[in-house]
Amino acid sequence: MRHKPVLLQEVLEHLALRPGAVVMDGTLGSGGHSEAILEKIGPSGKLIGFDQDPEAIARCQMLFRGDPRVTLVHENFRNLKKVFSGLEVAAFDAVLLDIGTSSEQLADGKRGFSFQTEGELDMRMNPEVGLKASELLAQMSEVELADLFYHYGEEHKSRRFARVIVERRRQQPIQTIEDLNQALEQALPPHMRFKKGQRPSWARRHPATKVFQALRIGVNDELEALKEGMTVAFEHLKKAGRLGIISFHSVEDRIVKQQFRKWDDEERGNLIFRKPMVANRSEILNNPRARSAKLRVIEKTS
Ligand SMILES: C[S@@+](CC[C@H](N)C(=O)[O-])C[C@H]1O[C@@H](n2cnc3c(N)ncnc32)[C@H](O)[C@@H]1O
Repeated sequence: MRHKPVLLQEVLEHLALRPGAVVMDGTLGSGGHSEAILEKIGPSGKLIGFDQDPEAIARCQMLFRGDPRVTLVHENFRNLKKVFSGLEVAAFDAVLLDIGTSSEQLADGKRGFSFQTEGELDMRMNPEVGLKASELLAQMSEVELADLFYHYGEEHKSRRFARVIVERRRQQPIQTIEDLNQALEQALPPHMRFKKGQRPSWARRHPATKVFQALRIGVNDELEALKEGMTVAFEHLKKAGRLGIISFHSVEDRIVKQQFRKWDDEERGNLIFRKPMVANRSEILNNPRARSAKLRVIEKTS
């Protein structure tokens, strides 16, 4: 199913989009936000869309085929500076970063993003760059794995999970989603282990949830990409231009909150609202992925 853009009305309103605006969407995904942005900026607007996933670029090539206002860039948004001169724009009126994974990435077992699918543990958003999750699991030490699960997943059983992974990989490599799920289940006390599809509602959070999040962040170097990407995006905003960031977990949201407050304190930017915008009940009912989304927006003042 096509990815549903989250907090769409909030994004359109708080990025203050006007006809003729030049906008960067750093995370095209399936182009839902971009499509709505194009309607707002009208025939004289311009949209530069980035995605590091070639499949997202291919989807958007179909979607925006023949639209002269759209330029698609297969790049990590952290590399904006490298490609900026080729974009032939002076600066942006607005930038949107909707970080995390798309529904298409999560649903495709071959990509290895979700513990609910079956396939190889890859998790690279750009399959041409970096190590797969299975390679990280094979190469990192027990301490490094525990740190990764703790810092990027806020997983309190990080040491126990790291220990069972290291024990298991001595017997056989952990290459598939199923291999990792089985190893993690082994780290749980027997009364917390359940067969696939038989997890009761009181044990709702699957033990693999935070480990998968941490691995994905590690494989794609997502936190550093976010820090570099938002800094370079802010630099390339016009005066009074706006940067909006949607994040999906507290590790990312903290980074955005701290950097936005710093710009606000330095009088380089104005926070548009202090508390992040979150989805309302009807959006969450219609799109459960919106449950954890948080939108923060800053306006550049100098
Ligand atoms: C949540 S989805 C975006 C969905 C999109 N807003 C829509 O309406 O369909 C996130 C997308 O951003 C891409 N992405 C994540 N981090 C990125 C980065 N550092 N650089 C470029 N693309 C990135 C992912 O590949 C994915 O396609």
